[in-house]
Formats: sequence, C-alpha cells, structure tokens
Amino acid sequence: MSLVIAVNIGRLKLKNPVMVASGTFGYGEEFADFLDLNKLGAIVSKTVTLKPRPGNLPPRTCETPAGMLNSIGLENPGIDRFIGEKIPVFKKIGVPLIVSIASEGGPEEFVILAQTLDKINSVSAIELNISCPNIKHSKPTTLNPQLISQDAKATYDLVKKVRKVTKKTLITKLSPNVTDITEIALAAQNAGTDALCLINTLTGMCVDIEKRKPKLGAITGGLSGPAVRPIAVRMTWEVYKKVKIPIIGMGGIMDAQSALEFILAGATAISAGTTNFINPRSSLEIIEGIKRYLIKHKIKRINDLIGSLRI
Ligand SMILES: Cc1cc2nc3c(=O)[nH]c(=O)nc-3n(C[C@H](O)[C@H](O)[C@H](O)COP(=O)(O)O)c2cc1C
Repeated sequence: MSLVIAVNIGRLKLKNPVMVASGTFGYGEEFADFLDLNKLGAIVSKTVTLKPRPGNLPPRTCETPAGMLNSIGLENPGIDRFIGEKIPVFKKIGVPLIVSIASEGGPEEFVILAQTLDKINSVSAIELNISCPNIKHSKPTTLNPQLISQDAKATYDLVKKVRKVTKKTLITKLSPNVTDITEIALAAQNAGTDALCLINTLTGMCVDIEKRKPKLGAITGGLSGPAVRPIAVRMTWEVYKKVKIPIIGMGGIMDAQSALEFILAGATAISAGTTNFINPRSSLEIIEGIKRYLIKHKIKRINDLIGSLRI
C-alpha cells in the first residue's frame, strides 16, 4: 500500500509528521552519528535570543519518576553566532529548519529576531517560545517569557506584532501552566499564527532531603517526559476542538504508540523531546511505527487519522 504521510504546517510542507523538539536535539549536528537527519520531518532548533545567554546555575537537570526536570535557562550563543555558525550546518543537512526564538526584554526583541530570520532562505518557519518557565530567576528586569503565554491578551498582542514582520510560517508554542489553554490558543490563532505547538514543560520542583535543598540550581524547573503525556494529550484534544489551524503535539512521546495518541487527539504533526536523551534514534523509529500502524489499519493517508478519535 502506498502511504501518504506528508503534512502541511502553514505553508511548510513536511515529508512526514515527525519533528524533534526545541532544546532536546541541540543544533542537529550532535545527532548526526546516530541517525540519518534527512529522514526527519523537521528540526526545531534550541531557542535563540538576541544576545548570548549563559543559562542557569547548575545543577540544571534531575531525573523524576517517568520524566525529568530541566532548568537550562535558554543557554544559547545569541542570534549572530546562531546565524553565522549553526545555520550553515542546517543548510547542509537539508531538512526543514524551524527556528525557536525568545525574548529577554519585551516584544520588540521577538520582532527584531523574526525580522532577521525572515530574510534567511534556509529558515522554513519561526517558532515563538512564549512558554519557557526557566528564566524567571535571572535579572529582575528580565521578562519571564512564560508570562506571555499565560495571558490571552499578551499572547494576541505579541503574535500580532510578529505576524506583521514575517511571511514565514509562524508557530506559537504554548504553556501547560494555565487554567484554560484553549483561550490562549484562540488568541494566538486570532492574531495570525499559522500553527500551535504544545506543550512546553510543566513547572515542577524536587528536593534533596539530606541537604534540605532544591535539586536544581534554579530551584524550579520544567517537567517533561512520559509523566506529562496524559496532560499533553488532553490539551491537544481540547485545543483541536476549538481551533482551525494545525497543532504540533508533544509531551512525553517515546514511541509510535504515544505519537499516535496525539495524532488521534488532533495533532497534525508531533515532536520527540525527552526521548532523544534516552534513544537518539527514537524519532526515526516513530516514523516507521506510524507507517506500520497505517498499513495495519488500512489507512492510506495520515490526514484521515488526524483528530479521528471516536467519542
Ligand atoms: C533539556 C530540555 C531543554 C528544553 N529547551 C527548550 C527550549 O529551548 N525551547 C523550547 O521551546 N522548549 C524547550 N524544551 C521543551 C521541549 O521542547 C518540549 O516542549 C517538552 O520537553 C515536552 O516534550 P517531551 O516531554 O517530549 O520532552 C526543553 C526540554 C528539555 C527536556
């Protein structure tokens, strides 16, 4: 049976619906020895800011039941070095590149970053990281990006400003640390985002009881991995019922079975995140597993599966 597994995210065409999540796949090249990067639907790069960021104090990660906490704090080389050093590597890989951006100041920084990336042909899409929970302990003047995605008006205003300066496919990444994620999703859609990406990590905390100290240098961090999957699937389903634009689902996807949960709940594409640290080849195994599922269930087109949950 010949399968059609290509999907569209805005104007971006992906040969398959499997991408790798921002911050969990470096800049692609680090994984080149483990898998044929060309087989991926897309690569989302580690969030980049205008200026370089050293990130948070160590320890920055700790293991949790069925997951992990991280408080990397958006360590990155800044946009100039990203363009000079990382983009040429992505160009060679040849897979659609989605560049994740965040601001340390206000909305203007998102606008400058989007304007800059808009001019670069090899950038296929821009992802607005308005949901990172891990940079609130920096300078008091620093914007906590998550505050944007916790407020529908702030989300609308930010997406609207960025939409005006780029024609590239615009993806907005939402936070699960909200009461009603559908309000934020609708605000982003109404402001002109082409797609939504969910979920970023859930704020969490672990304590070392012998030292009576938090296990992370930044005290709190973002929880990811299988522990968050049911929350992410639920949010995907809630948002799918309300919006008209594609959803990129993520949160605890470890294999094809878990990826298919998101697709059935309404995700057009999915991202593999924490699983990359356990099995760097898992994204390719997910693609193969999705194909096997389609063949087993005699479904020719992946589009017929999206949101096809029977309620
Ligand atoms: C170590 C680590 C670093 C991350 N860095 C970023 C980042 O820079 N930007 C971003 O949008 N999300 C970042 N995330 C969140 C992931 O992209 C993803 O949304 C989240 O981990 C849920 O998916 P998962 O459970 O499959 O990992 C990071 C996650 C981890 C574990």
